[in-house]
Amino acid sequence: MNHCLIPVMSYPEIIMQSGKGSYLFDTSGKKYLDFNSGQFCTILGHSNVNLEKKINKANLNLLHTSTGLLSEAVINASLLINTLSGSLNAYSIFLSTGAEVIEFCLRYAKHITKKNGIVCFDCGYHGLSLGAQSITFAGKYATPTVSNVYTIPVANRVFSKRCIDNILFRTDRLLQENEIAAIVVEPVVSVGGMIFLSEYFLHELRCICTKYKVLLIFDECQTGFCRLGEWFAYQKYDVIPDMVATAKGVGLGYPVSLALFNGELIKYMDFSMTHYSSHQNDAFAANIVLAGIDFITKRKILTKVKQKGKYFLKALQRLTEKNKYLLNPRGQGLMLGVNLKEIHGVDSRVIYNVLAQELLENGIIIQGTDRGRVLRFLPDYLITQEDIDFGLHCLSECINGIYKAYDK
Ligand SMILES: Cc1ncc(COP(=O)(O)O)c(C=O)c1O
Repeated sequence: MNHCLIPVMSYPEIIMQSGKGSYLFDTSGKKYLDFNSGQFCTILGHSNVNLEKKINKANLNLLHTSTGLLSEAVINASLLINTLSGSLNAYSIFLSTGAEVIEFCLRYAKHITKKNGIVCFDCGYHGLSLGAQSITFAGKYATPTVSNVYTIPVANRVFSKRCIDNILFRTDRLLQENEIAAIVVEPVVSVGGMIFLSEYFLHELRCICTKYKVLLIFDECQTGFCRLGEWFAYQKYDVIPDMVATAKGVGLGYPVSLALFNGELIKYMDFSMTHYSSHQNDAFAANIVLAGIDFITKRKILTKVKQKGKYFLKALQRLTEKNKYLLNPRGQGLMLGVNLKEIHGVDSRVIYNVLAQELLENGIIIQGTDRGRVLRFLPDYLITQEDIDFGLHCLSECINGIYKAYDK
C-alpha cells in the first residue's frame, strides 16, 4: 500500500471508502459492521444524512471566530449543556480532542487550587499529549513524565470490595500527605480492560476528595454523551464531580471535545488565568453539539441506548454460555466488554491479532484492549438488533475456528 503518512502505527491492507449507519465500505465495495462506531465517535452512525445536512447548513452560516469572540451557536450550546448537566450546573468550553480537554482540566485544576499534584490510577488511559500521557498507564508512554504525578496501583486491575477499600485507604493517605490538586478517574476503565467501577467506589472517592479539598475529575471521553444511557456517566452513578472531560461521541465523528466545570467552582474559585487555543469555543463545535442534542432528544435516543444495551448484553451473555472461549460478559448502555479465554503459554495478543484479522476478513470491526485479553463493543446508538445478532454470530464462529489451533 503506497502512502506518505508518518508511520505511527501499522494498518491492514483494506482501504475504507464510505460509511453508512453501522457499516463501512471498502474500495472493493465490501461492507464491514463497525462495532466501535469509528474510534467510539460516530454515535449516530456513519454519514447520517439528516444530521449532516443540519450541521452543514449551520457551518455554512458560521464556522469559526477569533478566540476572543463568541457566536450565538456556542452560547446556545453552553446553555443547553448546562440544562442537561443537572446538578453539576455545568459551565463549558468546547475544544477538539480528548487529550486536549484532559490537559485543559489539569491546567485549571492546578491553577484554581494553587496545588501541583495530580493523582491517577495505573490502569487509566487519558490520552497522549504530555500531561495526559503522564497520567496514562502510570506514565508508561511519557518520556519524561511531568512532575508531581502520583499513581495509585490497582493490583491485577481488580476492583473487588476488598481491593477497593485498599485503594481508597491508599488514596486517603496520599491526599493527606501531599499537595494534591485533583484525582482523575474514568467511570468505566476502557483501555485498561472494560472495568465498570462501582457506585460505592466513585462515591467514596468523592468523599475523600471533598475531605481534602481535592478536585474530582471524571474522564468521560468515552462514557459522555449518552454512551451509558444517561447524558453523562456521573448522572448514572449519582456522584457529582468537579470537572468532566468528554470527547469522541460529543463530536459525532468530528473533532470536538468538551470540558464541564461544576458551577460551584466558577462561583468560588480563581479564574484569573486565561486560556487560548485557535479552535476553542468554535461555532463549528457548537453547531455539531447542537445538532447532536436535537437528534438525541427528538428521537428519544437515551431510552434507545438503554434498550439496545440490554439486548446486546443479553445476547452477549447467551453467547458466553454457548462459547467456552468467551468469558465474563459485562456492559452498561452501549458500552460492553467480554474476556477472551487465555491459553497457557500463548501471549493473549497473538490470539487477539489473529482474531481481529479474521473478523475483518469476515466483515466485522471489533477492538481489543488490555493486551488482547478483552474485546470491547461501543457501537453507534442506532445499531439494529439484527446487526447485533449478526455480528455476535460471526464473532463466535471466528473464535471457534481460531481457538482450535491453540486450545489443544
Ligand atoms: C478515557 C479516554 N480519555 C482520553 C482519551 C484521549 O482522547 P483523544 O484520543 O481524542 O486525545 C481517550 C482516547 O481513547 C480515552 O479513551
